[in-house]
Amino acid sequence: MPRSHWASRASFVLAASGSAVGLGNIWKFPYITGENGGGAFVLVYLACIALVGLPILLAEIHLGRTAQCSVSGVFQRLHHPRSPWRAVGVLALLSAVLVLGFYSVVGGWVLDFTFKAATGALTTGSDDAVSHSLDGLLASAGRLIVWQSLFMGLTVLIVLRGVSAGIERAARVLMPGLLLLLLVLLGRVAFMSGFEPALGYLLRPDFGALSADSILVAVGHAFFTLSLATGTMMTYGSYLPAGQAIGRTTLLLGLIDTLVALTAGVVVFSVVFSFAQAPEAGPGLMFVTLPLLFKQLGAGQLVATAFFVLVAFAALTSSISMLEVPVAWASERIQWSRRRATLCCGAVIYALGVLCALSFNLLQDWRLAGRGVFDLMDGLSSLVTMPLGGLLVALFFGWVLGPRAVEQALGPDAGPALRWLLLWSVRLIAPLAVGVVLFTGLTTG
Ligand code: PHE
Repeated sequence: MPRSHWASRASFVLAASGSAVGLGNIWKFPYITGENGGGAFVLVYLACIALVGLPILLAEIHLGRTAQCSVSGVFQRLHHPRSPWRAVGVLALLSAVLVLGFYSVVGGWVLDFTFKAATGALTTGSDDAVSHSLDGLLASAGRLIVWQSLFMGLTVLIVLRGVSAGIERAARVLMPGLLLLLLVLLGRVAFMSGFEPALGYLLRPDFGALSADSILVAVGHAFFTLSLATGTMMTYGSYLPAGQAIGRTTLLLGLIDTLVALTAGVVVFSVVFSFAQAPEAGPGLMFVTLPLLFKQLGAGQLVATAFFVLVAFAALTSSISMLEVPVAWASERIQWSRRRATLCCGAVIYALGVLCALSFNLLQDWRLAGRGVFDLMDGLSSLVTMPLGGLLVALFFGWVLGPRAVEQALGPDAGPALRWLLLWSVRLIAPLAVGVVLFTGLTTG
């Protein structure tokens, strides 16, 4: 079977930025920024994206693009058939499965909130009812599973149709839709009293609010938000024709992802500050604080619906990219048809997701080291398998493939200073930063 490819470079940018822009940008980035004191955290985060995230992103796209195969074969093709580095492919596969397991549950929450927003339940209910929306949802196994099933079902349907008719097509519709909604929301909050304070909060650094922990959070989030260490960017990169430079494309992806996160931050904090609320509400910032405030806005129902549709679009273009990793693997490694691969991988991940959903209610007592299934899968991927995978990808690219790969990836236009910087960030800076996250995760997590 000939290998699928993106129709154009723009299709790749749409699909890969669709993968990068997700719950990480709109849900997680604002709340971790709020928990870590605002502007200073944003600066550290930007540094992590530039020095750790982008070099590893470039490395992953390069590996997929030159190997022209799924994660199972990348390291064998680029090194040798019995290369021990092939374990990195397995680790990436494992991370993709773990992340999608719990991501699909949160995707389900978003669909539930979208439905509530569209029907007006979110903006007409009593304050008490709205502030308990998330708790109520978490306590109901049935509702959680229905919404998670719908989210996984949509993901499977798109991936089933393949790279061009499924993933690429979905990204062409969902990404422009997402950007449009984000701009509309930005326009809506630009005239609110909290707009300027929100800008100040995100742009004016107060280093006193920063802790050592904030730096680890920033490194971890740079990974998550750029979809690294899950094989996603290798798999998407493998659908690019071999042989073109990818330096500018990588930079563009980083820019889109960062701009969306910052804009989402401005939208969320403008609303929060317009009603004099505290920014450090944690994970409930989007599911509790915001809905309470949407209620008080003019055209609140419309704003709330636009907001949650935006989040749902973002989550979906990310989840399809995660499912594509095991699907590409199964189609190539065990030669399953796309249909069989998608249905089987989807089913396994769905089952894991159901366990995650139930860990908030019926399976609350299933605990390991004090963590329920959801927290275990989240913790295992974000503290262990992803940092380890990212560390190894950086080392493989920097030390095994070395300067020639850097040159190929950046293309002939890149100056020696840029090449040098990239080489040493994959050889040293990124591995050190990620190594510290891994060490801390293993010793304290
Ligand atoms: N980058 C996505 C987000 O920010 C999450 C993701 C992680 C997607 C890993 C694919 C792989 O929500």
